[in-house]
Amino acid sequence: MIESVDKMKRTHNCGELTSADVGLNVVLMGWVQRRRDHGGLIFVDLRDREGITQIVFNPEVDRESHHRAHAIRNEFVLAVRGVVSKRPEGMINPKLKTGDIEVLVSELKILNMSRTPPFMIDDNVDVSENVRLRYRYLDLRRPRLQRNFILRHLITASIRNYLNNLGFLDIETPFLTRSTPEGARDYLVPSRVNPARFYALPQSPQLFKQLLMVAGFDRYYQIVRCFRDEDLRADRQPEFTQIDIEMSFVDEDEIIGITEGMISALFKEVFDLELNPPFPRMTYLEATQRFGLDKPDIRFGLELKDVSDIVKDSEFRLFSETVRNGGLVKAINAKGCSHFSRKEIDDLSDFVSVYKARGLAWIKIKADVWQSPLAKFFSEGVKTAISELLDTEPGDLIFFIADHPKVVNESLGQLRNHLAQRLRLIDENRYDFVWITQFPLLEFDEKEKRNVPVHHPFTAPLPEDMDLLTREPLAVRSRAYDLVLNGAEIGGGSIRIHQRDVQERVFEALQIDRHDYEKKFGFLLEALEYGAPPHGGIALGLDRLVMILCGQASIRDVIAFPKTQKAACLLTGAPSEATPGQLEELSLKISRL
Ligand code: AMO
Ligand code: AMP
Repeated sequence: MIESVDKMKRTHNCGELTSADVGLNVVLMGWVQRRRDHGGLIFVDLRDREGITQIVFNPEVDRESHHRAHAIRNEFVLAVRGVVSKRPEGMINPKLKTGDIEVLVSELKILNMSRTPPFMIDDNVDVSENVRLRYRYLDLRRPRLQRNFILRHLITASIRNYLNNLGFLDIETPFLTRSTPEGARDYLVPSRVNPARFYALPQSPQLFKQLLMVAGFDRYYQIVRCFRDEDLRADRQPEFTQIDIEMSFVDEDEIIGITEGMISALFKEVFDLELNPPFPRMTYLEATQRFGLDKPDIRFGLELKDVSDIVKDSEFRLFSETVRNGGLVKAINAKGCSHFSRKEIDDLSDFVSVYKARGLAWIKIKADVWQSPLAKFFSEGVKTAISELLDTEPGDLIFFIADHPKVVNESLGQLRNHLAQRLRLIDENRYDFVWITQFPLLEFDEKEKRNVPVHHPFTAPLPEDMDLLTREPLAVRSRAYDLVLNGAEIGGGSIRIHQRDVQERVFEALQIDRHDYEKKFGFLLEALEYGAPPHGGIALGLDRLVMILCGQASIRDVIAFPKTQKAACLLTGAPSEATPGQLEELSLKISRL
């Protein structure tokens, strides 16, 4: 039954025929979306990546192909020759791009058969992600996924074009390398020829792009895979792609300007949308104060208000003691939510507990009273001050969290996002970019009990904070910036340290001893001594950007062959076992299973 494609040459894609092509003799090749047998006539929707065309088998046009069309099933691969015709009156399908034409088949070749697929190749089919990933090549045939990858291609093409035109050089950097610290675990690769030695797959090309600046390639970019062994989420994969950029002789404004230009160009070219750079900028301090998070979604209000001063002397001891002990009390006003039930409030309390909040206090503002377990502790003066700060009206529901500043901001910031979703405060058609600047250089890691970099250890401190580096390292601000889109961190970068002594002082503030940093980063320190130019850069998370632009909820829908939550590939079965011979060659022994 299977035939070869000899002598038939595809003339059109299935999705591209229009009524302007009526009368044309065409050859289409594609997959069978659906076959309908109407006794006399057989209709097939033939699909390829551009769309669907209806083809018609009519015994009066060609008896043989009509006869053979009975055997056609979903996902068979066909080649057909025929004439484009106007569909008869009443048969026009306005939902289909090609809905006013059909192709009357005069010759059929069945290029391949298909087993019945485990799910329909259709956007609206309800199938578990595990099955989709197991048969990813079928899943990828679905129009939504095909569209995602076409857009992804257009986006990367636009980015390359933009950067090429500005004189950026695309230079590759190694995958088999040493650890580049970006805050995750490394993927290690054992070396056969150097027993007991390991390469690390790069968490980013950070050190190499800095070395390229020392080498004089003053504008570098690479669309490059990065590898990070970390807990996976809807917007995180163990291997993902960065648009990696580095420039010499620049300051923050220049890097931010180039990035804004690149993103605006791709919005215009791919989506015909005008962005209006410059994008707003906000310091880390302002972002966390107003929105709780360093990646604020600024598409809606619902800002956090600091009520510490108002409640510090109140009778509610939880609040007054928290403030006295150096903590914060902050609140948000959920407008018109005073009808929330006890159960609904308890659920929100569970929600914030994930972010370590120990409770969620609330007040329902009714026309005549404040309904709340706390109301009795608040004097009229406190109530008035809260009302004014939170702009309350009858019908509102105020939530409070009291704790260490970090917990208050994180949990209330997350609650703000959660409530905005639930109350439909977000305009999904908006793309709100914001730059977050002046991050702290270091933060204290409770688990490791030491200071760790907020970005990476090669980020330059703000010059005016340099003298705090030894005295008060946690107060030092950095020359790092993040780009946030609709509440997601889509990129980050910084001006780098280009002087050895400054880099050593930062390693010391990080409590890394000389021996250690010499061993790990001696090559960088040395390079800084040979005329390293001032430089800086940025890396954008391409997958995250594409995910938002394609309106997808999961990063897996914009990566052709993604991993599961457990970092497995269900299609190939990776990761897999090594044979005893391989282990032997690598001088490895598995000690524990
Ligand atoms: P950073 O670690 O902030 O910076 O990474 C840059 C961007 O990459 C994206 N990203 C991820 N996307 C998907 N899955 C992941 N696991 C993942 N991890 C990060 C994010 C993030 O903003 N070398 C520096 C950049 C620089 O300083 O120039 C770096 O890698 O969108
Ligand atoms: P309790 O006195 O423990 O019954 O708490 C009274 C209210 O305060 C409850 O609604 C708790 O959820 C809330 N609460 C407890 N701890 C905190 C906290 N750290 N911040 C805000 N509210 C809290």
